[in-house]
Amino acid sequence: MFARSAARAALNSRSFSSSAARHTKVAVLGAGGGIGQPLSLLLKTNPLVTSLSLYDIRGAPGVAADVSHIDTASEVNGYPADKLDQALEGVEVVVIPAGVPRKPGMTRDDLFNTNASIVRDLASAVARVSPQAHILVISNPVNSTVPIVASVLEKAGVFDPRRVFGVTTLDVVRARRFLAGVTGNHPKDTGVTVVGGHSGKTIVPLLSQTSYGKGLDKETWSQLVHRIQFGGDEVVKAKDGAGSATLSMAYAGAKFTDSLLRGLSGEKGVITPTFVKSDLFADQGIEFFSSNVELGPNGVEKIHPLGPISAEEQQLLNECLPDLKSNIEKGRKFVEQS
Ligand code: NAD
Ligand code: LMR
Repeated sequence: MFARSAARAALNSRSFSSSAARHTKVAVLGAGGGIGQPLSLLLKTNPLVTSLSLYDIRGAPGVAADVSHIDTASEVNGYPADKLDQALEGVEVVVIPAGVPRKPGMTRDDLFNTNASIVRDLASAVARVSPQAHILVISNPVNSTVPIVASVLEKAGVFDPRRVFGVTTLDVVRARRFLAGVTGNHPKDTGVTVVGGHSGKTIVPLLSQTSYGKGLDKETWSQLVHRIQFGGDEVVKAKDGAGSATLSMAYAGAKFTDSLLRGLSGEKGVITPTFVKSDLFADQGIEFFSSNVELGPNGVEKIHPLGPISAEEQQLLNECLPDLKSNIEKGRKFVEQS
């Protein structure tokens, strides 16, 4: 009896000291926006976040005041336009949803001219103030903004490929939900690995790797693939000029941040697709690629190979790679010429 309660006390004190020892400060850059606000809300409810730093060129102190009343333990601070450096002090994870969203008729690449410099300047501040931080890029076009962040950090001499991520989780969330819609199963049973990049044809869902996805007839398969690849357009069209996905993206961004925080805190077996510097297609000149990545105490622990794919998926991949390559090169060139 005593031995059991002593063991329990030891266990409690261990878990108490490890959670008490870990302080994770997370910054959201673009916290006043359509994604930034609900993302800040969701991060405030995450027990792995001990401090939340909300920055935007507009409205972040108001969002911070609002979110700070939620009865979870983390502290929240909001920073106005001229306080970026203060917002980044001591931060371990930086999530970036800053930038303009699409309107109907636009591609994500059409956002490049505006968002490239926003992301470049934010990355440069991270390099200066919190060079050890993990950077999670949401701002579009992700296929180019991630290489922009990497190039800025490289120029500053602080790039670590284990710490820069393009958030492609919304593609995975959609794939899971849309497949469940077709099969009638619960989304939790219809996980799908989505690889490649984050725009149209560069989004490659590997449905053949799931028990529910591999039995689909050809017609259903192609409609489903198209819906996963162009799900963003559905939302842009429905919002009719008022922006793109914000709520589902906040959910996806919070989900990916939680996965990273679990990996950083030592949890084993945290594996999810994300767009990172990768050797998988480096021989074809493609430096960044989204595939299943194991997250751990240093960020990226292991990049998993694609595994077996069908002939149709190989065809999707063949269509993905040239676009992805040019999107990546565009991002790289932008920083070279800046
Ligand atoms: P939004 O216009 O509602 O919000 C963007 C916010 O960024 C605004 O509050 C704005 O003030 C802020 N901002 C602009 N420049 C800034 C700067 N230099 N520093 C800090 N903040 C700055 O847009 P949104 O709907 O939240 O979308 C944001 C971005 O996320 C867009 O580029 C969009 O395409 C992208 N997005 C990506 C995904 C994905 O899956 N990765 C999904 C949805 C949207
Ligand atoms: C999405 O996939 O919803 C985002 O990338 C936003 C967009 O422009 O479609």
